[in-house]
Amino acid sequence: MVRAVLLSAVGAPLELTEIDLPEPGPGRVRVKLAAAGVCHSDLSLSNGTLRTETPTVLGHEGAGTVTAVGEGVTAVRPGDQVVLNWAPACGGCHLCGIGEPWLCERSGEGATSVYGSLADGTGVYPGLGVAAFAEETVVAERAVVPLPEGIPLTSAALLGCAVLTGYGAVHNAARVREGESVVVYGLGGVGLATLQAARIAGAGPIVAVDVSPEKEELARRHGATEFLLADDRTTAKAVRKLTGGHGTDHAFECVGRADTIRAAWSATRRGGRTTVVGIGGKEELVSFSALEIFYFARTLTASVYGNSDPAKDIPVLAEHVRSGRLDLEALITDRISPEEIPEAFERMAQGRGGRSLVVF
Ligand code: APR
Ligand code: ZN
Ligand code: ZN
Repeated sequence: MVRAVLLSAVGAPLELTEIDLPEPGPGRVRVKLAAAGVCHSDLSLSNGTLRTETPTVLGHEGAGTVTAVGEGVTAVRPGDQVVLNWAPACGGCHLCGIGEPWLCERSGEGATSVYGSLADGTGVYPGLGVAAFAEETVVAERAVVPLPEGIPLTSAALLGCAVLTGYGAVHNAARVREGESVVVYGLGGVGLATLQAARIAGAGPIVAVDVSPEKEELARRHGATEFLLADDRTTAKAVRKLTGGHGTDHAFECVGRADTIRAAWSATRRGGRTTVVGIGGKEELVSFSALEIFYFARTLTASVYGNSDPAKDIPVLAEHVRSGRLDLEALITDRISPEEIPEAFERMAQGRGGRSLVVF
């Protein structure tokens, strides 16, 4: 039995409970978690904004140590330190074949299979295939990436979602170049990682936008050169003023709302690019007139998991951490116990703090 934070039904309070984890079957790996970050997607899964099977153990941004491997596993051995990947690519589908593994047609399959059971025998689903809000988890071999040397295991958890997502949105998806202007909407763990990535790219100005004024100091620490309080009517105008009257080359939406997608798009220059990183609900509708789509000739696209191949990109991130360009510690504003995840959700809902990290 292992201790885990259970969501018994959508909207139900989280509860600390014990789960019976089976020994890893063929192609599966058992991992003892060192730490797990609390991401807004966990909150969205828990309140029904995003769909999930229940009962489930959430948490998809984790790092830990391999304790056992199933038959046929060759990528890792017990004792290896790993980062968890919540979108493991199958390697065999059409989109994997054309080099877009982050859009793998079969990556969600692990998320819908039972991975453990409660004392009464009820099966439990792993949140996003990972279930990192637990002392130990069992995941697919494809969902573990060996942790490169010299990176602290606890802060490495953040590489598994926020940092891979934010860094990849800037470097893999939007391909921000030195000297280009960047605006980031939403300054949670994902938005702050996006700011750091823009700083690494040599972008400027780097404008951070949030509804919460207390995010200004945090944003500046992560590379923002300017901070704007989100306001639908004035933000686009203020961005134009900061970018020579043109609008920004790049906007990144790290909230997951229709109105911020629309605001981000409006803040870009003619021919500019908006990259949607936040995950909104299906009832959130964004509207554009036919004329403005033609006239502005802008690009609007989404970046899923930073358009990354975690096995290749995590070593790149690790190099940035070792050289001091990427600051994982700065992202972590709260180190918490599993019991404190509801408070971390509350902080997110109120727009307070950076990343909360559950330390096991
Ligand atoms: N305009 C600007 N910022 C906003 C707005 C708004 N209208 N509404 C909320 N925000 C800010 C919040 O104040 C907060 O700082 O967006 C930030 C969101 O941060 P977190 O809740 O910590 O979310 P995070 O984990 O960073 O995830 C961001 O990416 O992966 C997805 O599902 C995730 O959609 C979510 C997004
Ligand atoms: Zn996440
Ligand atoms: Zn695939």
